[in-house]
Amino acid sequence: KEIVVSGIRPTGLLHLGNYFGAMRNFVRMQEEYECYFFVADWHSLTTHPDTKELVSNVHRVLAENIACGLDPEKAAFYVQSDVHEIAELYLYLNMLSYKGELEKTTTFKDKVRQQPENVNAGLLTYPVLQAADILIQRALYVPVGKDQEQHLEMTRNFADRFNKRYSEVFPLPKAFNFSGELIKIMSLDGAGKMSKSENQMVTIYLADEDELLRKKIMKAKTDSGPTEPNSTKPDYIQNLFTIMKQVSDDDVLQKFEDDYNNCVIRYGDMKKQLAEDMVRFIKPIREKAADIQNDKAYLSKIIKQGADKARTGAVETIKLVRSAVGVNYV
Ligand code: TYM
Repeated sequence: KEIVVSGIRPTGLLHLGNYFGAMRNFVRMQEEYECYFFVADWHSLTTHPDTKELVSNVHRVLAENIACGLDPEKAAFYVQSDVHEIAELYLYLNMLSYKGELEKTTTFKDKVRQQPENVNAGLLTYPVLQAADILIQRALYVPVGKDQEQHLEMTRNFADRFNKRYSEVFPLPKAFNFSGELIKIMSLDGAGKMSKSENQMVTIYLADEDELLRKKIMKAKTDSGPTEPNSTKPDYIQNLFTIMKQVSDDDVLQKFEDDYNNCVIRYGDMKKQLAEDMVRFIKPIREKAADIQNDKAYLSKIIKQGADKARTGAVETIKLVRSAVGVNYV
């Protein structure tokens, strides 16, 4: 079976972007591939040095993924810091990555702007740690949203450099989405990608209550509608259609597409429909996640079981890596 790896940072509530960019693919891929999904707790320390909420955030990521259908019996589902081999691989890969290319990374430049008081080395080498997460399982596919595309390109570069410098240990992994192209869900005001930490009224969280979901969707940015038949949709309108495509029936989506193309769309009606479909979609996930999050014994069991599964392959890879690099002396 082909190997799949992906991770989510425990930095706050999960949202629709996480779901459609990543989690939904996890649930489908676990049926056909050998899957390794994890909570990227080390990565979260690059931006969240205060760890007061780390445990509950890690539990939440586990609970929300399981509530969405991730099955820890089918996939290995673990916490990054339980797999020490990742840290060792990160060390070797650091010797094959260059300051110049790391400084040019889009996510690094964004973080420098967002937290100028804490431009730590972990932020700079973030893509190297991510490459180690992926390469430690010698994965081929990485289900992620569009925002991770550059990190995947860097992962391939590091893997290729390692293979050429030492010997062929790693396949070159690719970003993956079942729909064929990587997804970017925008925030409801159309100002950039939906994210965990930004303005909470324009992000739809998997934990939002029904009334809050309705309120957020009714406030989503729209305009007075198209004036020319079949015109291109502005980003923020396209985003509502993209979201609707994920949670509403095909014929409902088609009706609003037709209305748009014929310049008779009523965004108020569209948002009402979307709000009801969203409530129907989120409610069972929210309720199930809350139950799982309260079941600490179950979560502990999952974490231990996941670590065992993930370490099996990781230990093997590290053996190959040490021997390729030449650090085996007995
Ligand atoms: P993170 O925690 O920011 O997000 C988790 C996943 O959700 C996707 N995503 C989105 N997709 C579409 N639209 C959005 N608005 C949106 N926001 C987030 C992300 O693309 C991601 O797939 N660096 C990673 C975590 C990571 C990782 C890895 C991923 C660490 N090691 C190894 C894959 C493989 C991150 O920050 O994701």
